[in-house]
Amino acid sequence: AQTPVTATITGAGGQIGYALLFRIAAGDLLGPDREVRLRLLEIPQGLRSAEGAALELQDGAFPLLRGVEVTDDAAIGFDGCDIALLVGSRPRGPGMERADLLAANAGIFGPQGAAIQEHAAPDVRVVVVGNPANTNALIARAAAPELPDDRFTALTRLDHNRAVGQLAAALDVGAGAIRDVAIWGNHSASQFPDVAHATVDGRPAMQALAERFGGAENAAGWLDDEFVPRVAKRGAEIIEVRGSSSVASAANATIDHVRDWMLGRPADAGWTSAAVVSHGEYGVPEGLVSSFPVTSDGSGYRTVEGLDVDARARARIAASVAELVGEREAVAGLL
Ligand code: NAI
Repeated sequence: AQTPVTATITGAGGQIGYALLFRIAAGDLLGPDREVRLRLLEIPQGLRSAEGAALELQDGAFPLLRGVEVTDDAAIGFDGCDIALLVGSRPRGPGMERADLLAANAGIFGPQGAAIQEHAAPDVRVVVVGNPANTNALIARAAAPELPDDRFTALTRLDHNRAVGQLAAALDVGAGAIRDVAIWGNHSASQFPDVAHATVDGRPAMQALAERFGGAENAAGWLDDEFVPRVAKRGAEIIEVRGSSSVASAANATIDHVRDWMLGRPADAGWTSAAVVSHGEYGVPEGLVSSFPVTSDGSGYRTVEGLDVDARARARIAASVAELVGEREAVAGLL
């Protein structure tokens, strides 16, 4: 039997943590054959909540769960960690400027990156969920210079799944019929959800949309005026309707991201989206953690290269990337 995998969840006492832990314990992360050890890393104020979740995990009697440890010490939390899910972050407080928010989070993700380099397994894989996720991942990556770039990612899979969901609803098909949607840029309202290369049951999505909306021009209008803003602002819509932020869908996307990363995507599943360290692909400045269309065969996320990106898409991507450049500048002194 394979050795159990060690997954560390920061912010495990929070809402996404609560949803995530039970999915992982049930085997959704790595399948029914892989045992998991969970490390719940919190700040002192969050420890009781994480301890409560640990009690409930025990009460789940999950066959794949080999132990749960709760700690507020990063050296213990990341010890031997194979998968680091960095969920806990500092939310924006009243009157807090963007630069203050970025700096406060640099104070969390810098030390966590350093602790991962020092204590985690050599092939550790890190996904940052806590916002501002892309720049938090950039900070963690910078604090772990001995680890390769490809170990650090940020979550844009929720945006990707939202885009697939919107497209499927508009075309009245199941989500499984949709392939090759892409999220570009930052996990923020500036992101660009792109369907230019997407297919529906093997047919170009643009063709299906033109039929659905009565012509290519109407389809383009729907994309610009409805689809893109709806996906980019879906988080706010969830808060308005549900009275609380997206939690179960965020946990679900985190599971999707790690599973595809570790196990690879099925051969016929097409690509997905993840924020990864740029090496200059599509003009995105090197070192930024930006969302791209990616594939995975289980050995790592690889950016899909050589796509034909038209002028309109290039401008949208550039606008989101400019925001990431601004965020990097705001934390430059802290890197
Ligand atoms: P929450 O406030 O319920 O939980 C956050 C937890 O993190 C708290 O228990 C807190 O004590 C803990 N925490 C804070 N600083 C920490 C640190 N330095 N080390 C360890 N734990 C720490 O928030 P929720 O709803 O669970 O969301 C977590 C984060 O995920 C937020 O930043 C949210 O904006 C982000 N998010 C990201 C999404 C994405 O697609 N990338 C989607 C949805 C949420």
